[in-house]
Amino acid sequence: MSFVFKILVTGGAGFIGSRVAQAYLQAGHQVVVLDNLARGRCEHLPVGAAFYNVDICDRSAIHEVIKRERPNIISHHAALVFVRESQRFPENYLRVNLDGTRNVMKAAREAGADKFIFASSGGAVYGDPPGLPLREDAPRLPRSPYGETKMWAEDVLLAEEGGLEVVILRYGNVYGPGQDHSVVTRFAAALRDNVPAVIFGDGSQSRDYVYVTDVVRANLLALKPGLTGIFNIGSAEGRSVLEVYRSVAANMHNGVSPLHLPDNAFEVRRNVLDIRRARSILGWQPEVGFEEGVRLTVEEVVGG
Ligand SMILES: NC(=O)c1ccc[n+]([C@@H]2O[C@H](COP(=O)([O-])OP(=O)(O)OC[C@H]3O[C@@H](n4cnc5c(N)ncnc54)[C@H](O)[C@@H]3O)[C@@H](O)[C@H]2O)c1
Repeated sequence: MSFVFKILVTGGAGFIGSRVAQAYLQAGHQVVVLDNLARGRCEHLPVGAAFYNVDICDRSAIHEVIKRERPNIISHHAALVFVRESQRFPENYLRVNLDGTRNVMKAAREAGADKFIFASSGGAVYGDPPGLPLREDAPRLPRSPYGETKMWAEDVLLAEEGGLEVVILRYGNVYGPGQDHSVVTRFAAALRDNVPAVIFGDGSQSRDYVYVTDVVRANLLALKPGLTGIFNIGSAEGRSVLEVYRSVAANMHNGVSPLHLPDNAFEVRRNVLDIRRARSILGWQPEVGFEEGVRLTVEEVVGG
């Protein structure tokens, strides 16, 4: 049985949110995008979606939009997303990622929405607890202010849901065309320009890379009425930054050596997500392998 929803996508001008909004539209849902364009781009806005240029920190404006539009579902992607920046401006991260999330959730509850889907971070909330891959019930020991704000936002949603169905999707390192902040894109852009790509530390730190269309599919499956819970959305494979570099360089037939800069104590060392819950309950699994995802991303960087 298929349902048609009215869905508010916050952060819908950003890398992931715009793809999610587009996929919801293509699936026949009505979509409203809310974004303050701090980091998102107008050209990412999907055609066919209503758009509000609003800051999630502006409580009354958020209430106004949600009261007017009355979405059944909120897909909350608006956030500040950089680990290093969060070290320098932790108060901004608190304001947007925690207080802003609370604003959106409260307005949604008051307007009678049914479901709240939250883009959390499996790369940042766990930190470096012992034992990989990380299940959803692993201890959360974030190392950065970014990770902390994502963890606290999860807690607020779960504690104050007041009848909303809450789905928390903890993404791994999402990459793909149309993005400028993953290492895959950064490495490809540097190699395209024949300049050394920057690697922080020795490059042995590992991450769980997940391709953006797979993340989008998880957001479609999360719409299912009655579905709630926390789900890791990753590849269940760890790759070192150096491996990523080599893979991008091989795709580009470019041998420029990377430039190693000092490591950052806030960076997670090793991250691999256990995705069995997403497989069994959400019916989700990644479909784009890493080599294929790198090839598609490199193609866009070189072509664009
Ligand atoms: N990219 C990843 O690897 C990754 C991994 C885990 C989780 N996430 C989460 O997914 C979501 C989307 O990430 P992304 O990579 O697409 O980042 P992005 O920066 O491309 O998108 C975030 C969007 O939020 C908007 N935004 C920021 N502050 C806002 C505010 N105060 N009010 C309204 N809009 C605001 C930005 O303009 C931008 O369009 C974020 O919540 C992020 O924490 C991303």
